[in-house]
Amino acid sequence: MNLSKEEERMLNGEFGQGNQRAIELLVAIGDAFDAEEMIPITRAHAASSGQEGDLYFVELLANGGAKCRVPTSTNPVYDLEFFHRPHEALSDEAEVARRVMKAYERVGAILSWSCVPYLTENIPLFGETVAFSESSATPYVNSVIGATTNREAAQSALAAGVVGKTPKYGLHIKENRKGTILVKVEAALKDSFDYTLLGQFVGKQVGYGIPVLAGIAKRPSTEELINFCAMSNTTGAVSMFYIPGFTVEAQTVEEAFQGDKPKDKIIVTDAELKQTWEELQTASGKIDFVMLGCPHYTLNQVAEAAKLLERKKIHGGVSFWICTSATTRALAKRMGYVDTIENAGGRVIVDTCIDEPCWSMYKDKVGMTDSPKCAYYRRFKDVVVAGLEDCVESAVRGRYE
Ligand code: F3S
Repeated sequence: MNLSKEEERMLNGEFGQGNQRAIELLVAIGDAFDAEEMIPITRAHAASSGQEGDLYFVELLANGGAKCRVPTSTNPVYDLEFFHRPHEALSDEAEVARRVMKAYERVGAILSWSCVPYLTENIPLFGETVAFSESSATPYVNSVIGATTNREAAQSALAAGVVGKTPKYGLHIKENRKGTILVKVEAALKDSFDYTLLGQFVGKQVGYGIPVLAGIAKRPSTEELINFCAMSNTTGAVSMFYIPGFTVEAQTVEEAFQGDKPKDKIIVTDAELKQTWEELQTASGKIDFVMLGCPHYTLNQVAEAAKLLERKKIHGGVSFWICTSATTRALAKRMGYVDTIENAGGRVIVDTCIDEPCWSMYKDKVGMTDSPKCAYYRRFKDVVVAGLEDCVESAVRGRYE
């Protein structure tokens, strides 16, 4: 890579060891992808987690004195105050989580602990160059907002946030942003859960690529787009997609393929969505808990859950959880949604990912969720996957039939 004088000096350690480690990683990635140069970024999102690999890298940078040069938000780990009583010794796993969170604080990251930061805490604009990791964040930022990011890891996104730059390759180059496969959507897409199933199916079929979804007549909601992003980038590696007319960079299918003819095509009907749904189920009947908010619920989704729970009581044998960001919970509390959910027996919890050891109490249990991603990363035995309304009804009944 051609480095500027300042980048060379950083690589030589003149700006401290933390910066040196960060730029070393970026240069190695740039070399691996034949990038010719670094380009400035305006913001980053690090898919932090309470895991050892994350701890190693963020402490390496923090101990070396690194500080984020651009706003860099953080993914959920878990709410230590909620899951651990004060004065109680932390478990080994909780100690890792505490150190991760502390180290992100030391590098000056935004302590958002949210996996949808692009909605509230760290919002790119059209055309910005950014480095966003996290399954829903990468495709949302590329496709819905029209900023450019590669599919970053927690470490590469943090390094980019510290250096304020990223290697120029992949989706930072216009010709690499063209569609690679046409997806003819013939399914009815009745609700946001259908977008979840669509993402699940399309990700599996496409694998690594940029699908262009044709045939969607009605504008998808923010939540539907988030669901599609999270699932297609979990079952596949979909960092970008087009819904011509609704996502920003192409108004037509032809534009999305930048004039090329699509080489591959798949068709999605209601039958594929039904089969996708059936394949997700590993249980039915009695459930032990319901887990929602993977990705973190938006204010609209918390409001919808509250509305469904009005004047209802969750079954005594069922725990009911909604994960969201601290920002959204504060607003939901102010608007009465949190009280409605808590009065029904549920909880709205912040800063927490479903893939964290704080949920180990459910390892032999049956859970229900509206998120195949939650089912995929689950730390519990069996799972039922269904839309929010079914999840709430089953929580009240204690069973899914
Ligand atoms: Fe968010 Fe964790 Fe799910 S980061 S999308 S709650 S696996």
